[in-house]
Amino acid sequence: MHSLVTIADLGKEKILSLLASAARFEAMPNRKTLDGRVVATLFFEPSTRTRLSFETAANRLGARVIGFSDAATSSSSKGESLKDTIMMVSNYADIIVMRHHLEGAARYASEVSPVPIINAGDGANQHPSQTMLDLYSIMKTQGTLDGLDICLVGDLKYGRTVHSLIMAMRHFHPRFHFVAPTELAMPNEYKLYCREHGIDFTEHTEFDETLINAADIIYMTRVQRERFTDLMEYERVKNVYVLRADMLRHTRPNLRILHPLPRVGEIAYDVDDCPQAYYFQQAKNGLFVRQALICDCLEIEG
Ligand code: CP
Repeated sequence: MHSLVTIADLGKEKILSLLASAARFEAMPNRKTLDGRVVATLFFEPSTRTRLSFETAANRLGARVIGFSDAATSSSSKGESLKDTIMMVSNYADIIVMRHHLEGAARYASEVSPVPIINAGDGANQHPSQTMLDLYSIMKTQGTLDGLDICLVGDLKYGRTVHSLIMAMRHFHPRFHFVAPTELAMPNEYKLYCREHGIDFTEHTEFDETLINAADIIYMTRVQRERFTDLMEYERVKNVYVLRADMLRHTRPNLRILHPLPRVGEIAYDVDDCPQAYYFQQAKNGLFVRQALICDCLEIEG
């Protein structure tokens, strides 16, 4: 059995095999594959999609689910350490899905835990299960992962989903277009990562129709209020890019708009009715991908 801490741990063959497994779960999501198993979901940070889709994934495979969605209701609010929490929960569960505000928390948990850990987001660092569902969504809508023009838009500094996506796409020759205000530009470490892995990228501060019309995927992100220490800075940049339906008149026919969600204004509601909108289906895909990931980490055949 093994943990999933970072997308960087997954090679190309492994990614493709997990995507194929997710497709099989999509064809038949209700099975008794995890009958008798217990899945723990420990969410030290808020979540709707990630927690509920992991829990649905487990339930639909016959597992039982324990955990908390608010750390204030757990003994960590009394000062219990992360290590002790993990050791306790591993007494009860076969696998732990954990979201934590501290970068590196999932790696640490995986080092002390006797059962597999799935990183459901650690601070601004990584969100590998989101990345796998993003890849699944790209594969489903484009028919390939290879050679695509992908615009990443919004908060590229704190956005863990875009960081993970860049790493995953290193196998598939993408052309990335990073669109962010200067304050939220892609951190140097990820630009260095691109250069080291031969990933083509350009940087922009304007989000205009030239970029939109040449894209296969537009990946919008939320400016995350919770990551800012200076709320004045948040106010300055929060509405910097808003995608509206009228901006989608001359796109490539295969363009799909992704967003890890939640959105808070960066995609206008009129986009929801456009054929390019794919973010709700993208979130649904998370269920099948997470079924594949739980089974893979437990080394159980789907
Ligand atoms: N995409 C995502 O992580 O959403 P939640 O924060 O609702 O889990």
